[in-house]
Amino acid sequence: MKKDKIIFFDTTLRDGEQSPGASLNLKEKLLVANQLAVLGVDVIEAGFPASSPGDFEAVKTISQQIKTSSIAGLCRSTEKDIKICWDAVKYSKKPRIHVFLATSDLHIERKLQKTRSQVLEMAVKAVKYARSLCKDVEFSAEDAGRSDVDYLCKVVEAVIDAGAFTVNIPDTVGYTTPVEFGAKIAEIKKRAPNINKAIISVHCHNDLGLAVANSLSAIENGARQVECTINGIGERAGNASLEELAMALKVRPRYYNVVHSIKTKELYNASKLVSRLTGIAVQVNKAIVGANAFAHESGIHQDGMLKARETYEIMRPADVGVTESSLVLGKHSGRHAFFKKVKDLGYKLDAKTSENLFDKFKVLSDKKKSVFDEDIIALIEEDSTASNKIFTLEYLNVTSGAGIPTATVKISEKKDGKNVHEVFQEAACGSGPIDAVYKAIDKIVKMNIILTEFSLRAVSSGEDALGEVFLRVKYKGNIYSVKGTSIDIIEAGAKAYIQALNKAKSFETRKEE
Ligand code: KIV
Ligand code: ZN
Repeated sequence: MKKDKIIFFDTTLRDGEQSPGASLNLKEKLLVANQLAVLGVDVIEAGFPASSPGDFEAVKTISQQIKTSSIAGLCRSTEKDIKICWDAVKYSKKPRIHVFLATSDLHIERKLQKTRSQVLEMAVKAVKYARSLCKDVEFSAEDAGRSDVDYLCKVVEAVIDAGAFTVNIPDTVGYTTPVEFGAKIAEIKKRAPNINKAIISVHCHNDLGLAVANSLSAIENGARQVECTINGIGERAGNASLEELAMALKVRPRYYNVVHSIKTKELYNASKLVSRLTGIAVQVNKAIVGANAFAHESGIHQDGMLKARETYEIMRPADVGVTESSLVLGKHSGRHAFFKKVKDLGYKLDAKTSENLFDKFKVLSDKKKSVFDEDIIALIEEDSTASNKIFTLEYLNVTSGAGIPTATVKISEKKDGKNVHEVFQEAACGSGPIDAVYKAIDKIVKMNIILTEFSLRAVSSGEDALGEVFLRVKYKGNIYSVKGTSIDIIEAGAKAYIQALNKAKSFETRKEE
């Protein structure tokens, strides 16, 4: 018998981008959308077009450029939002309008200040209007996890009659448990009379750490679309993680008895890309893509692995695209070897970017004996996030030790988006070398940025490993997460700080525009 297909609906660019500090610019969103398409995601939710002109532009551009996946845009149940959404997604080969409206009594009474029948009427009207524009319409019953199941079944029936092809049952606040949520899906499947005309979708949040478990339980009970994000990022504790769902279905095929089109060998690349661009680090023990996911520490486990891998490994690192960290290149490696490595790592770069990166690689390999895959990835991705550069670090000198830490910095600033750069120089003392550097930069930039998190790790192995500084900063109420890498950790810290200033400044400029 033909197996049912699970539709993977990725919302990294919408719900995921709602994570504090995760805001992405257009170029970064396109990089993520391309990787999602390569990964085989069926539907990419590219944004919430009515929420800002920037989101509208991103959804429109992604709709124009991505050819394989469906492109969805989210909208509230109002004509204005739906029309804006359609104007953004209509360029896609497979556009989808995703309308949502809350169905729990708490949301209906307190947030919307309406009655159940008014909400039902609004939902039907919204779906009908969306269907007049677009063939593919999804309806989400926000806070379905806490909605009364009798009322939910009525809403589901009505929106399917109005033309929705997908009905999404979100556990918006991550409140339900797997058995309970699965039972709710089974109940809807049993009681909504026209349910066979639509796909049941689920969208689970991770507030109790149950998002993946709840989604899998929903699949067991008839859901055929899962909404998820790379690395599980999203509002608050995040959404169900795409990589965990895809691998659970792959590793346990006889248990779930369904198929999907995710190319799991691309999972690791996707995870790395999203982590680097959003600045949200992946916890080391994260299932599937964490640094320790395939590390075996105990002697008994290592012994078992050597005798038969399956004793302690239920999937191979290569299944998710993790390759053994190999010593790849060094100071004698030429252009050809470098470009081949970049290609093997899955990057397609234009000639100018490739040359630029080769120069950076040469500088690095002069300082570092062994250049690992991770070092090259860090170089490439630092380069790809360097768009919208307003400030550039031109010079850095730091003295520290027994005396007072002092830093001198030179920064160039791009004026009014033109290619005219003005150079400024300042010096400052601080309680430590990083503090001195940041104070000197602040004297030039004067942005009153607040540093809320600073951490440091080695990108690869060895004493001469690249250092990566991760920063979270607050500027005018928004949070930005960034990373900077260098063989010199003070320079990595300075680069990260400059990157934070660039991100905050360009976000502010985009908002003003
Ligand atoms: O969590 C939620 O309910 C949502 C909907 C808009 C689908 O993100
Ligand atoms: Zn959500």
